Amino acid sequence: MTSTRRTFAIISHPDAGKTTLTEKLLLQGGAIHQAGLVKARGAARRARSDWMKIEQQRGISVTSSVMTFEKEYEGETITFNLLDTPGHEDFSEDTYRTLTAVDSAIMVIDAAKGIEPQTRKLFEVCRLRSVPIITFVNKVDREGRDPFETMDEVADMLALDVSPQMWPIGMGGLFKGLLDFRTQEVARVEGGSNEYMGKRDALADADIPENYEEEYQLAQAGYPEFDLEAYRNGDLTPVYFGSALKNLGVEELIDAIARYAPPPRPQPAGEEKIGPEHDEVSGFIFKVQANMDPNHRDRIAFMRQVSGTFKRGMKLTPSGLGKPIAVHSPILFFAQDREIADTAEPGDIIGIPNHGTLRVGDTLSEKNEIRFTGLPNFAPEILRRVQLRDPTKTKQLRKALDDLSEEGVIQVFYPEIGGSSIVGVVGQLQLDVLISRLGAEYKVDAALEASPFATARWLKGPDAALRDFEKFNQGNLAKDRDGDMVFMAKSAWDVGYQEEKNPDLAFSATKER
Ligand code: G4P
Repeated sequence: MTSTRRTFAIISHPDAGKTTLTEKLLLQGGAIHQAGLVKARGAARRARSDWMKIEQQRGISVTSSVMTFEKEYEGETITFNLLDTPGHEDFSEDTYRTLTAVDSAIMVIDAAKGIEPQTRKLFEVCRLRSVPIITFVNKVDREGRDPFETMDEVADMLALDVSPQMWPIGMGGLFKGLLDFRTQEVARVEGGSNEYMGKRDALADADIPENYEEEYQLAQAGYPEFDLEAYRNGDLTPVYFGSALKNLGVEELIDAIARYAPPPRPQPAGEEKIGPEHDEVSGFIFKVQANMDPNHRDRIAFMRQVSGTFKRGMKLTPSGLGKPIAVHSPILFFAQDREIADTAEPGDIIGIPNHGTLRVGDTLSEKNEIRFTGLPNFAPEILRRVQLRDPTKTKQLRKALDDLSEEGVIQVFYPEIGGSSIVGVVGQLQLDVLISRLGAEYKVDAALEASPFATARWLKGPDAALRDFEKFNQGNLAKDRDGDMVFMAKSAWDVGYQEEKNPDLAFSATKER
């Protein structure tokens, strides 16, 4: 039986139209009945804490969330699990982790602007995870760049083949509609509503830009045809031009996900891969979010289900805990609501409320034999010392830093010498989120100061070699929140030097969670 689940992420740079597209996808899926709800919900959510205010001020989305909707497709009900990702490169680690939980991704690009240099990193993360990508070039109704330029830019950036599927008929002021290369159907905007014009021949009498035919021939001939296997291998991206605002090309995009996007794929677990057909329920935690509702200090762990049929109340053993927990109130996330899930299938994302027992990277399973791998921590690129303004709040600070590092907002290091903790992040914005959440959620007034360190490496090796290293480098050693030893380096050169001097030790820039 082929799975009816399509679990995918949307990745875009801020302002490319991700919110608008999400809303239209949910509308098409019948999950919401009125445009504007995703935003309204967003606004209500944002108003709740200072942390969310950062999102509002900067017009970026910091948190990633899950939305499920269904759609009939060729006689079958397909369940779409959409995972949102933060639209800023400073959160590319978060995006990376979200990509471990999906089987494919939609990359949204603004037709007028192309790919902005600072968001390349986000898109490249897709390649790192070899997630198949469908490209949606949004805002074709705007005065924009030449579509060929966009195609080439995508191909260059991702180093893969691009295959056009929906092509704009004129752009900006001359925008007349879209042509579907597969069906040869023409969609066009007429007085605010979309009208399907029938086959390409219908264009003959229509008032379209005169170079259109030539452009169409060029696009047809100049790029490879769509090839399912190449797409699923991550060697080719189908490109859909469209307009989220005008709801053009969105239906075709959903179709493409239903038709082409891979069903739940096997996940790495050490040497093995565990597929959906594996004979027990298993999954892994890829995200933990604390204080989603500040009125109830709740903490939700998001589990990507990998195998089996989950039933409410089932006992699963988290790898980090070693003893089973009963999952009584698993949450499914719909557009406007959370619902208690009675059952869930591979590919589904369920939220498990807990009080700190579940951590990112944990495997949950019935038999407690599997360990999913591939959810690393990345060596931080910015390190800061945390200075507490009110010394009576040491305990609260420690709790906050532990919580937030568990969520993946920051990493925390406790130096062997000296009192103040050091936080590490991959991007500057994470620090803003840290300070604002410390105040809003933990009532801790703290400041960040320069630290002498530039990066960190996890140390592994024989005990004797580690002890030797410790003797001479105590001032540069810290423990992470799991108690693992970390070398705090003053520069990249410092790392290289120590690596050479200590051939028995591994200095790792990532740590498996
Ligand atoms: P984001 O989540 O990726 O940050 O983008 P969002 O959907 O918020 O869209 C950013 C802006 O682009 C919004 O305008 C939105 O209306 C506009 N937009 C999205 N899709 C299209 C499209 O297909 N065509 C055109 N012309 N515009 C589009 P705004 O003025 O910033 O916000 P608002 O006034 O609409 O709320």
